Amino acid sequence: MTTRKIRIAPSLLAADIGRLREELAIIEEGGADWLHLDVMDGVFVPNLTFGEKIIDTCRRYTKLPLDVHLMVVEPEKYFESFVKAGAATLTVHVETAPHLHRQLMRIKELGAMAGATLNPSTSLETIREVASDLDLLLIMTVNPGFGGQKFIHNTVAKIARAREILTAAHSNALLEVDGGVARETIQTCWRAGADTFVAGNAVFAAKDPKAEIAALRALCAETA
Ligand code: DX5
Ligand code: ZN
Repeated sequence: MTTRKIRIAPSLLAADIGRLREELAIIEEGGADWLHLDVMDGVFVPNLTFGEKIIDTCRRYTKLPLDVHLMVVEPEKYFESFVKAGAATLTVHVETAPHLHRQLMRIKELGAMAGATLNPSTSLETIREVASDLDLLLIMTVNPGFGGQKFIHNTVAKIARAREILTAAHSNALLEVDGGVARETIQTCWRAGADTFVAGNAVFAAKDPKAEIAALRALCAETA
């Protein structure tokens, strides 16, 4: 466990889009590892955000790898254009993916990291058979759709079980958590086995986002 690299992925959803370039520069200078992009379609989740255009704009404004979280039905419709726009990872919700294996293979074929994600109520059994095919497993720690929600503590045991499944499958997949991740909750996720942390409001609503990224990282390092 001590060799796990900590990744902090601020979520654009909580940034001030009017100051996009500046916000991206701040987190990049602050040592963020990835930029997390929440694509929502108003069908799978009750909210709408953005698509290809914003991914492409972010790619031009930052060197950070773009971690694209697809909260949409029929996500495969967007794989090609989003990878072309600059997505480094594409993560699909298993709830929208009856052909998950095919989707993961397609994402890899396009040259991106292939991720699967689970709502808090979705069983880990949905990814067990593809565990060795995953580059990334994202455990939702809130119900997807909005930033700034309260962390669901029952998901901590699920993070630990997810880590066991990855280990048993000899998978090198990253284990990411998303939703309500902040100073109060990050350590428990890290201890449970997560290595990649989406943080929206915790970073962008902080007085000093750079210091916040460092503080989140330090809380994990402290218990490494
Ligand atoms: C929720 C999104 C999250 C969101 C997290 O549906 O998937 O990525 O931006 O926001 P915070 O960190 O504020 O809970
Ligand atoms: Zn997300």
